[in-house]
Amino acid sequence: MELKDKSILIIGGTKGVGRGVGEQCAIEGAKVVISGRDIDAADEIAAAVAGKALHKPEFVQADVRNIEDIRNVVRRTEELNGRIDGFVYYAGILPVAYIWETDEKQFDDVFDINVKGAFFACGMVLESMKKTGGGSIVLTGSAHAYGGEEDRGVYAVSKGALLTLMKHLSKNFTKYNVRTNWVTMGWVATPGELAMRAGQGRDLAWLEEQAAKDTPIGRLLTVEDHVPGFIYLLSDKAGVVTGTELNITGGVSA
Ligand SMILES: NC(=O)c1ccc[n+]([C@@H]2O[C@H](COP(=O)([O-])OP(=O)(O)OC[C@H]3O[C@@H](n4cnc5c(N)ncnc54)[C@H](OP(=O)(O)O)[C@@H]3O)[C@@H](O)[C@H]2O)c1
Repeated sequence: MELKDKSILIIGGTKGVGRGVGEQCAIEGAKVVISGRDIDAADEIAAAVAGKALHKPEFVQADVRNIEDIRNVVRRTEELNGRIDGFVYYAGILPVAYIWETDEKQFDDVFDINVKGAFFACGMVLESMKKTGGGSIVLTGSAHAYGGEEDRGVYAVSKGALLTLMKHLSKNFTKYNVRTNWVTMGWVATPGELAMRAGQGRDLAWLEEQAAKDTPIGRLLTVEDHVPGFIYLLSDKAGVVTGTELNITGGVSA
């Protein structure tokens, strides 16, 4: 019960690592609000933690490209739980394209979801946490933030901006007892990654083979590999940890 009765909001909590973190927060005793567009995930998450969670996770639908949706999620979390102690921004898309192939729509989609949604959500959550004495914000990073691979231009630049957002919040607002940290995620066969690879004609077997060669640890990482790091950063055990980049990458470096 590492997070007993804490109010935790996960934007992008419907799939992959975000979903794993949301479910584990509930099992650790938190009052969890999960957000995303996929309303079917609400029942699946509730079923996954039934009998193990202290509080039933709530779902609030939002498309992070719409700032009013984000405002509604933050407001509903405050209404439901009275405060926000922890916030994870996991929503993101990771298209493959060389810089010269990237059109304006793709650029805007990536920045709307990976950066703009995070920027406004963090501002709203920070304002809320300031009023209630503080909290913990965790942003979802990638080793691509430091330049990225040759065919990941817009994704890499978006994650660089997100890293600066983490540093900006930590540097300036830790004085309000709001800690902000970043998890550099490793390579995971999430629904988003699998869909993106399917578009390239590649499947899970290809991912596993590639990860065995390219990842120092020798395998694809899993949701379970990542969840404890997020839980730690959300918990009081990390009470003086802020501005950090927690690498959960199996040895892949920036
Ligand atoms: N997979 C990897 O290997 C890897 C590696 C490093 C970092 N990451 C990071 O992990 C995060 C997720 O990426 P992923 O492809 O692996 O995804 P994923 O696990 O399939 O999950 C993507 C999440 O983003 C949400 N999302 C996407 N667009 C949204 C929108 N417009 N509004 C609200 N929510 C939205 C989805 O919710 P709905 O579908 O419900 O809208 C879903 O919960 C990203 O931040 C990415 O940078 C992934």
